[in-house]
Amino acid sequence: METQQRPTVSPDRGALAARYTANRQRTAGLFRIPTPEAYEDRPIPLRLPIVFYDGHIPAFTYNTLMRGALGRPSIDPLFERIFERGIDPATQDAAQPRVAPPSWPDRGAVSGFAEQVDRAVLDAFANEELSDAARSPLLDRAQAAYTILEHEDMHQETLMYLLHRLPYDRKRAQPAVPAAFEAQPAASGRVHVAAGEATLGARRDAVTFGWDNEFEETRQRIDAFEIDVNSVTNADWLAFVRDGGPLPPFWREKDGEFEYLAQFEAVPLPPSWPVFVTWKQAADYATWRGGRLPTEGEYHRAAFGTPWGEERRFPWGEASPSRAHGNFGFQRFDPEPVGTRAAGASAWGINDLIGNGWEWTSTVFAPLPGFEPMASYPLYSTDFFDGEHYVMKGASPVTPTTLIRRSFRNWFRADYPYMYAKFRLVYD
Ligand code: AVJ
Ligand code: FE
Repeated sequence: METQQRPTVSPDRGALAARYTANRQRTAGLFRIPTPEAYEDRPIPLRLPIVFYDGHIPAFTYNTLMRGALGRPSIDPLFERIFERGIDPATQDAAQPRVAPPSWPDRGAVSGFAEQVDRAVLDAFANEELSDAARSPLLDRAQAAYTILEHEDMHQETLMYLLHRLPYDRKRAQPAVPAAFEAQPAASGRVHVAAGEATLGARRDAVTFGWDNEFEETRQRIDAFEIDVNSVTNADWLAFVRDGGPLPPFWREKDGEFEYLAQFEAVPLPPSWPVFVTWKQAADYATWRGGRLPTEGEYHRAAFGTPWGEERRFPWGEASPSRAHGNFGFQRFDPEPVGTRAAGASAWGINDLIGNGWEWTSTVFAPLPGFEPMASYPLYSTDFFDGEHYVMKGASPVTPTTLIRRSFRNWFRADYPYMYAKFRLVYD
């Protein structure tokens, strides 16, 4: 178990380099999923083509760590600009990069740029002072180093959402995974979560790194509620469809039957998997069933609270996340039956709070008290404090394990249909 209070010491250079290299290798493997012809495809019209993300990860890394934090000169001013930023746009217009290139650079040029960035970063990780706050606010607590690592982690998941929308024949087949299997959850029904305190966010000195929206630590008093042990399944949703409810984004109807569009194949609808839906669809289902979505604070109570009043680091306790605890960290590309990893249940016996799909909350994404934009990426959160984004917690099958921590907050628009996001109901 790590200690709560971490002194401001230089980070372990070897560990940073190992994490960077492992990230780059996984990213490279994911970019080999699309066939070569699909490199400039734009599987989600609102987002940029695949090539953009291939260039964006190294460009963000170079801009943030090398130029921003360490003051190094550009290695490729054009690439550093065209690949700078491009996220969650509201409209097609907003999806155009700020500096639209007449055509995208070819794949060899993007790879060549990425290799130069990798060499520069590994050299900096070996030789530069990475946590000298007096030199730059971006170096405070080695913020820039962790920012680039976690930014790449997040884009691995973004890439999977994107590739999910590519036609199957534009993806290379992956080693067979049991896409569809069925299992019964060990527990079902509802449990009572007693009134108590929930701790949202974190103290700046209590975590190695957190994004700006995770600070400051905020305690909330939460009333008692009832909550479903398992998230809503495809079988549950089918009853809603039969009663006029909408088709979820990952379903399709074929010859009167429903199919589930898994990452690499369409399979007969797996009844026991969590249903992935938009926030709006989840909220409509809740109204139809006579429940509601949990608030962010209620999620925290359900996930980290205990009947004896202590709060845990993870739903299952203090142990670092491992395979036994949930479906996250690229063990699979797709969900699995709800409630099958009993070792990951919270103290109240609630399943899958981390893994098998992010969990929607009813809470609008907004700053916690004490929020300050982070030096290494001032627009990271502030661009999205617009009342139109909702907090998601937990993790999906393709969320890197390094992003799993109590204070991590994710967010998307109410009608954004691409993420691996499930939900469960609470009842007053
Ligand atoms: C935190 C997942 C909502 O993808 O829009 C990546 C992450 N920000 N590059 C997004 C992000 C900048 C962000 N989310
Ligand atoms: Fe990004």
